[in-house]
Amino acid sequence: MLLVQLLLVVFTFLRLSYTWEYNEHIKHGSSLMDGRDIFDPLIMPNYVKRETNHIYDEEGQMHIQNSIIDSDNIAEWTPIASNLTAGQKDLYVFTVNTGSTSNGFSPTYEILIFLSGNLCNVQDLPEDVELYVTYAFNDTITEDPSSGISVSFSYGYLESLTVSPIQTDTSSNITSLYSYLYVAVEPRNKTTGQSLSTDDYPGTRWEYHLSISENDLVYQWDYRTWLDILDTDENSALLITGAESNVAYNFTIHDTSIYDIYVYSYNDSLIIDGQFNRSVCAIKNGNYLVSSNGNVASSDIQLDKKDLFVQKIVKDGANSTNEYFYVTGLNHSTSYVAYLTKKIGKSGNLSDVGGIIFEHVSFQTKDDNTCSLIHSLGFCSDVAYSVPTSSLYLGNKTLLAEAYENISRSLYANFSKALQLIPCDTESDARYSPLRTCDDCAESYRNWICSVSIPRCTTGTSSYYMFRNKNENRNSYIDDNIKPLRNYFEILPCIDMCYAIVRDCPSDFGFSCPDVDTTPDLLFNSYNFYNGNRDFVSCNLMGNDTETVNF
Ligand SMILES: *[C@@H]1O[C@H](CO)[C@@H](O)[C@H](O)[C@H]1NC(C)=O
Ligand SMILES: *[C@@H]1O[C@H](CO)[C@@H](O)[C@H](O)[C@H]1NC(C)=O
Ligand SMILES: *[C@@H]1O[C@H](CO)[C@@H](O)[C@H](O)[C@H]1NC(C)=O
Ligand SMILES: *[C@@H]1O[C@H](CO)[C@@H](O)[C@H](O)[C@H]1NC(C)=O
Ligand SMILES: *[C@@H]1O[C@H](CO)[C@@H](O)[C@H](O)[C@H]1NC(C)=O
Ligand SMILES: *[C@@H]1O[C@H](CO)[C@@H](O)[C@H](O)[C@H]1NC(C)=O
Ligand SMILES: *[C@@H]1O[C@H](CO)[C@@H](O)[C@H](O)[C@H]1NC(C)=O
Ligand SMILES: *[C@@H]1O[C@H](CO)[C@@H](O)[C@H](O)[C@H]1NC(C)=O
Ligand SMILES: *[C@@H]1O[C@H](CO)[C@@H](O)[C@H](O)[C@H]1NC(C)=O
Ligand SMILES: *[C@@H]1O[C@H](CO)[C@@H](O)[C@H](O)[C@H]1NC(C)=O
Ligand SMILES: *[C@@H]1O[C@H](CO)[C@@H](O)[C@H](O)[C@H]1NC(C)=O
Ligand SMILES: *[C@@H]1O[C@H](CO)[C@@H](O)[C@H](O)[C@H]1NC(C)=O
Repeated sequence: MLLVQLLLVVFTFLRLSYTWEYNEHIKHGSSLMDGRDIFDPLIMPNYVKRETNHIYDEEGQMHIQNSIIDSDNIAEWTPIASNLTAGQKDLYVFTVNTGSTSNGFSPTYEILIFLSGNLCNVQDLPEDVELYVTYAFNDTITEDPSSGISVSFSYGYLESLTVSPIQTDTSSNITSLYSYLYVAVEPRNKTTGQSLSTDDYPGTRWEYHLSISENDLVYQWDYRTWLDILDTDENSALLITGAESNVAYNFTIHDTSIYDIYVYSYNDSLIIDGQFNRSVCAIKNGNYLVSSNGNVASSDIQLDKKDLFVQKIVKDGANSTNEYFYVTGLNHSTSYVAYLTKKIGKSGNLSDVGGIIFEHVSFQTKDDNTCSLIHSLGFCSDVAYSVPTSSLYLGNKTLLAEAYENISRSLYANFSKALQLIPCDTESDARYSPLRTCDDCAESYRNWICSVSIPRCTTGTSSYYMFRNKNENRNSYIDDNIKPLRNYFEILPCIDMCYAIVRDCPSDFGFSCPDVDTTPDLLFNSYNFYNGNRDFVSCNLMGNDTETVNF
């Protein structure tokens, strides 16, 4: 008896310390398996279909079958899916396997067992009831739940960790001290912790997925958004993953099926946000309008797609590969909420079960077609924002994007010729700068020319934005070749792009930027400063943002 108590104390201690450790992993959005050779679906046993745990007597009264013998066996990784109604209880056994963790966490003195689960409901659940998962290495929990550890779902999510010590048997084989983990799942009264009676909440069912694994939390959530809204127009939106740049991940092996978005109407997102915003299962089960799930990333981008669809686009950056989601077919002046999910597993072998859910993002479509969202251009490849709609190419974004690109290309052509006359690709001591090359200069100039010839358009007002009459644009090329449909506001280019050409290009060009002290009017009529503290875009930036000047 004393020994049992002592073990419980040790357990509690281990549980706490490990809880802290794996929470750290969750916070960084990576599964514990990343980079490890653990997950291999081919060796995963299939889940044996569960049988009922409820028996009925002669009067038709239902009883919970408390014998563990007939309960279901939970297989490593593959989650159990089940529905419960008030008064019902599910019982499971998980076989603790010393061998199954040998690839990853070598079981030198203990075996970690991760429990994680999702509620899959999409309607309101009663507030005074919680779904509890009780587990222990002793099957007495089937009769006395208080002899085990109970955890409940919160925001549709459950996680826990338990540890089975290992022992060395007589023939010096390593085995787990405990062979089985017993698990009971049951809706209970939140206040009293008592089981419900079968008459409570008729018609309400608690649908859940539960996974037990010696390798990982099959279900995870992340408090960060990991999804940025780049821009929207009247009926489309462009979103990008990986808003933070410094991810420790080898993106050359990026698997484009790893991320998916689920777009909800604002009203339908409220039910998710209230109760299930940590549940991948609920988000996949819910009444979403459109999802990228199953769509293949393609280089054939259809800017003009009209139906409700999410195109996946993958673009390589310097250090990272970003995944873009181009959502089309939306209604104007409407709020939407997007949830991002991430699959777990190794690239090429991602698991269809489980996954990570990130904090949602919301966006609103524009009221009219003053601005048009364009992206994935050939020359100005960093353009991924709304531009003034042309009265010449109304309803055809493909032609609109081409018209803007033609302006940028022709302006760049003259510069390109000039650059060839400067001795910048010669030996480093004959170059204009030992640090910068012609390529740096060409790249900075391209970004600058794109930003000044393809104005970023908005209908929102802010002291940062410049009003443009449709007949008096930033330059005459836009007046003549675009002929904007309506007056608009321009989000001015960031001054950093001007600084970049001064820094990167030979002084022969004589580039200079307006000065904030001596020529502030000139500066603020043409550029603006980057302000990362605002929740709106203060200026339009393309290219390298590592040296932006905050103002
Ligand atoms: C739970 O019930 C719902 C509604 O009847 C059904 O669609 C779903 O397939 C059930 N899930 C399981 C795991 O039986
Ligand atoms: C389970 O708990 C009961 C009561 O505490 C104890 O008598 C029994 O030996 C335990 N069984 C195992 C397998 O530890
Ligand atoms: C110990 O391991 C050996 C080799 O794997 C095996 O043959 C033997 O049956 C094991 N002994 C026990 C008691 O499990
Ligand atoms: C839960 O317990 C409280 C306090 O005993 C009681 O008022 C409430 O009706 C119970 N709810 C259910 C669904 O049993
Ligand atoms: C990324 O993975 C590729 C392919 O496996 C490999 O060639 C490359 O060296 C890796 N890069 C880094 C930085 O680990
Ligand atoms: C959203 O819900 C509000 C309040 O219930 C309702 O007034 C509004 O019409 C709903 N909007 C849509 C688009 O269903
Ligand atoms: C961005 O600029 C920094 C500092 O000049 C440089 O170290 C880095 O390589 C640049 N990144 C790209 C993608 O050019
Ligand atoms: C690219 O990765 C390198 C090495 O991790 C890092 O030093 C550099 O700052 C990164 N560049 C950018 C633009 O993030
Ligand atoms: C657009 O509005 C119509 C009519 O209100 C509605 O039926 C449809 O679901 C909406 N579509 C989207 C994508 O919001
Ligand atoms: C996926 O797993 C299978 C079985 O382990 C393996 O043969 C295959 O090479 C893996 N594919 C990738 C892309 O890692
Ligand atoms: C879920 O909702 C809660 C409460 O509104 C919020 O604190 C949390 O950030 C939301 N998102 C996640 C992923 O938990
Ligand atoms: C846009 O114009 C091009 C070229 O005339 C044409 O092929 C394409 O079908 C047009 N797209 C739409 C949506 O009208």
